[in-house]
Amino acid sequence: MDKKSREYEVCPCRHVSRGQIEDFIRETKTTDLKEICEKLNVGNKCGGCRETILQIVDEIMA
Ligand code: FES
Repeated sequence: MDKKSREYEVCPCRHVSRGQIEDFIRETKTTDLKEICEKLNVGNKCGGCRETILQIVDEIMA
């Protein structure tokens, strides 16, 4: 699946999609990775998706 798709599962550990992360950042204006991970319950298992979450933050805030 296209990694830019809203359905793309950014975090397979927590089953969180790109769209869910994008909406959370837009709605809450949260750009802090730690806060996103805590509040959305994402990126807090293996941590492998954190780099991608940071990229999504950058894209949305750009
Ligand atoms: S892929 Fe997100 S915590 Fe493992």
